[in-house]
Amino acid sequence: MTDQRFLHNQWSSRLAFVLAASGSAIGLGNIWKFPYLAGENGGGAFVAVYLLCVVAIGIPIMIAETMLGRRGRQSPINTMLTLAQEAKTSSAWHYAGWLGMLSGFLILSYYSVIAGWSMIYIFKMSSGYLTHISADNASRVFNELKSSPEIQFIWHTVFMATTMAIVSRGVSGGLERATRFMMPGLFIMLVLLDGYAMNSDGFAQGISFLFKPDFSRISGESVLVAMGQAFFSLGLGMGSIMIYGSYLPDHVSISRSTVFVASADTLVALLAGVAIFPIVFANHLEPTMGPGLIFQTLPIAFGQMPGGSLFGLLFFVLVFFAAITSAIALIEPAVAWLSENRAMSRETACLRSGLGCWLLGFGTVFSFNLWSENTWFGKNFFELVDFITANIMLPVGGILVALFAGWVMKREVTETELEMGPAYSYWRLAIRYASPLAVALVTLSAIGVV
Ligand code: TRP
Repeated sequence: MTDQRFLHNQWSSRLAFVLAASGSAIGLGNIWKFPYLAGENGGGAFVAVYLLCVVAIGIPIMIAETMLGRRGRQSPINTMLTLAQEAKTSSAWHYAGWLGMLSGFLILSYYSVIAGWSMIYIFKMSSGYLTHISADNASRVFNELKSSPEIQFIWHTVFMATTMAIVSRGVSGGLERATRFMMPGLFIMLVLLDGYAMNSDGFAQGISFLFKPDFSRISGESVLVAMGQAFFSLGLGMGSIMIYGSYLPDHVSISRSTVFVASADTLVALLAGVAIFPIVFANHLEPTMGPGLIFQTLPIAFGQMPGGSLFGLLFFVLVFFAAITSAIALIEPAVAWLSENRAMSRETACLRSGLGCWLLGFGTVFSFNLWSENTWFGKNFFELVDFITANIMLPVGGILVALFAGWVMKREVTETELEMGPAYSYWRLAIRYASPLAVALVTLSAIGVV
């Protein structure tokens, strides 16, 4: 489509899209969230369901969402509106864009707090006092951080301000350059940690925990969490990848680019898991310890490595970069929409949406201290926001994308957009039937409807 809908600039190349989409996908979800969710949900069986969800649900929806973005070429809300008009169907579809914008906003509010934790660890590593740290001390250091609203408040603020400063300059040059060195760097650090894990006492136990599925340990809710994590980690169901697709030049193969991004994303999550669980078992820690898992395990490994404070510092710097490139993707739909529809400058749009996220983030900061006793449905504020977004809102967003791409858009249109050859029929089957049905079934059965 090369008509007047060209509202934004385009990526300089296919590589630029792949880098940006990987920047969105690879983040705290892979390094912080995947390991602790796997730990809480029984290990191998969770990982198996997660991998199945990435292939059967994630990749088809990722292709669809990128395609919608490239054809609509605007913020998710306006893209849905334009494509609904093109298909001569109800403009109510643009509420899918609203839902996505809201999900991104809610996710970023807590994402920023956790990114703040990893920024604090940059300094903890370089201060050198983690050298030869014991498991007990590593837990004590983390618990001190968790119980201090002031420290978390400061770093949450720094992270939000940095994100918004970058977003206000527009998503292009800087982001591309940052991801280009961040991703290989992160990969190398993880491989290094895996090398350390391989030589540790807990390696065999860690590997069997992660890769030997014991399906008796998995519940309906764990299946939902595994699926939610597939959406979260790939960055689907809220318009992130849709907006990056909107900058993608015509005739670039969407399916090949997305399969590459999904594979890189999954590899990083698995490498993180392989690094962490041997440390857990070698030090007799609990895999179920929750959101603090990486912060209570990795310092032990760095503490024992020669040059560990330098590697530790580098590692958390890279985690910070990975988090920033994902945070940008989470807020970009809101900023793009505000500047398209409200005639706002990018700066004002950033200031308003950033301020909202920042305020909401206080709820997450307090979940770990002042409000830790306040729960709804057995979940604290952070857990509740996380559950609703990752396990309900993203899957619903994903179903809407699938239904729109599979049932509303004409076959001729999607077939020409995707240029996938014979693989097209598989994609179409998945997007019309398999993916939406699987998502609906998992969600409804976990909340007890079916
Ligand atoms: N995928 C990122 C991570 O794993 C976070 C993220 C970016 C995201 N864009 C998203 C999550 C869209 C859900 C939806 O850290």
